[in-house]
Amino acid sequence: MTGGPDWAAFRALFPTLERKAYLASGSYGLLGRPVEAAMRLYLEDRLEKGVDWGGWGERHEAVRGGVAALLNAHPDEIAVTTSASAGINALASALEFSGPRNKVAVSNLEFPTGAQIWHAQEPRGAVVEHIPEDGDGFIPLEHFERAIDEHTRLVALTHVGYRNGARVDVEGVVRIAHERGALVLLDIFQSVGALEIDLTALGVDFAVGGMLKYLLGTAGVGFLYVARPHIAALTPTASGWFAQADIGAMDIFANRPSPTARRFEAGTPPVSNCYAAEAGIDLIRQIGIGPIAQRVRETTGEAMDRLADAGCTLATPRDDRWRGPQVAIRSTDAAALAERLAARGVVVSWREDKVRAMFHAYNTGADTDALIEGLLAHRDLLA
Ligand SMILES: Cc1ncc(COP(=O)(O)O)c(C=O)c1O
Repeated sequence: MTGGPDWAAFRALFPTLERKAYLASGSYGLLGRPVEAAMRLYLEDRLEKGVDWGGWGERHEAVRGGVAALLNAHPDEIAVTTSASAGINALASALEFSGPRNKVAVSNLEFPTGAQIWHAQEPRGAVVEHIPEDGDGFIPLEHFERAIDEHTRLVALTHVGYRNGARVDVEGVVRIAHERGALVLLDIFQSVGALEIDLTALGVDFAVGGMLKYLLGTAGVGFLYVARPHIAALTPTASGWFAQADIGAMDIFANRPSPTARRFEAGTPPVSNCYAAEAGIDLIRQIGIGPIAQRVRETTGEAMDRLADAGCTLATPRDDRWRGPQVAIRSTDAAALAERLAARGVVVSWREDKVRAMFHAYNTGADTDALIEGLLAHRDLLA
């Protein structure tokens, strides 16, 4: 026996699992006892102290530090935002689209927000070019090769697609983009907390995500990573007092952005959400993202093999390199199938013609058993 993490003890931190086979962590991660305690602590602190800007500032910084450590980034490269959308908007506000480099190449696997915000820049001169999937729902590198050229300012890319769980070749896209002078924004919302991610090694210029899914925190807090060389060169026009070099300066006569990625923040930090986010990230870091990623990979891989044996058609690639924590199962009526599974205590989510089973390290083969039993009981809805 090797002394790996005590997965049974980890699972026991999530009371919902006593009642449900919960396979919807890519929709919203489960509330763990330590995160619940942190949220209660926020209320106790409010009742006890009323105001605690010093303590709240420390929690805000702890979230920044935790995100940075998890992603092999420097805390100065992390803006703590209120959502992934807020981070993308702040970044967009700092980019110029008036010259010949006005194109934003947007993959068709983006979450809607990651495309809509770029379309919102069209009145500022941005030209959005969509990068299509192939027939299997994946985006081969050639499609990026074709779309990225000397007019491309930015490539918007998602690490793990929310619709089919497929991963893109991030290194390949970064290589092509950088050769042609374009920047890369990577959306890691569907992978952070479930996969090992080294942003420095990947070489992306920007990344966004949030705390409510595999990071086990809550909605209302997210992050934007800005690689160090870009920080000083980009001045967001979406700003605020928490984006200033000196938050306490209270200077109404000038905008003096922070020399760090904090310049992409805006107003009062999401204080209560930072309590939960810090506790969620701590849960991940205490076990270690390496063991968590390995367990998610194994549990999900075994589930894929068993689902295929049971006759399900999977939209997610089986190769570990090209998938994340999500298994997408084709259905003739995914909404109805998800509802029927929920009635049996199996919680999944659905998009288009697929139900999505999204695994975290607290899931076991027993959750897969319940999923397969439920699917076979409703095989009339399998495609
Ligand atoms: C891949 C991805 N990006 C972005 C978002 C949206 O993020 P936010 O609501 O924090 O802007 C989601 C939400 O599910 C997502 O899955």
